[in-house]
Amino acid sequence: MDQIIVFQHPLIQHKISMLRDKRTGTNEFRALVEEIAMLMGYEALRDLPVEDVEIETPIETCMTPMIAGRKLAVVPILRAGLGMVNGILALVPSAKVGHIGLYRDEVTHEPHEYYCKLPDPIDERTIVVTDPMLATGGSAVAAVDFIKAHGGKKIKFMSIIAAPEGLERLKAAHPDIQIYVGHMDRCLNENAYICPGLGDAGDRIFGTK
Ligand code: PRP
Ligand code: URA
Repeated sequence: MDQIIVFQHPLIQHKISMLRDKRTGTNEFRALVEEIAMLMGYEALRDLPVEDVEIETPIETCMTPMIAGRKLAVVPILRAGLGMVNGILALVPSAKVGHIGLYRDEVTHEPHEYYCKLPDPIDERTIVVTDPMLATGGSAVAAVDFIKAHGGKKIKFMSIIAAPEGLERLKAAHPDIQIYVGHMDRCLNENAYICPGLGDAGDRIFGTK
């Protein structure tokens, strides 16, 4: 499988276009982020381990596959990554959720950590890191660094919009992770915002600013 999967699905592209529209308000924005995460999650979780369990149907008893227990952790990068969590939990309600708090310095654009709490143990889980925006890639690289330092091994990174610069940086720093991107945008501007992008994802999800 390629390390990077960029989604071409019309439903995802349509919903991303709605996110970009500056007239889209907080409620709708939040719902769209969740729906896109669910659609992306459907693909990203196609290799979740399953095991056969015995089920009694109204007709007979059979062995039939179910997702093997305690195998998934979702780890949003705060704040904006939180907006994607429920979309994935809708698919796998039993997943554990960790949190990594990072904010970008407005001048240097470098990430600063302020919180980290991961499910323990983490080493045997598939870990889906969520953040709608992959801009310089600094936050994504730092988040994956933390997870690996805590023992995480099988890591998938999911972002709705990526800039080529950020994707290259993440790929170079972590060639062993799988990366899922809803849409590749053109470039970063002088403030390290993605163009055309959707603005500040955290502010638009939480209605700040
Ligand atoms: C945004 C976004 C990513 C990061 C991407 O978060 O949600 O985490 O910037 O930029 P990068 O690829 O250049 O690191 P921000 O730092 O604005 O924090 P917030 O989610 O709390 O608003
Ligand atoms: N963070 C955002 O929320 N948006 C961008 O365009 C870049 C970083």
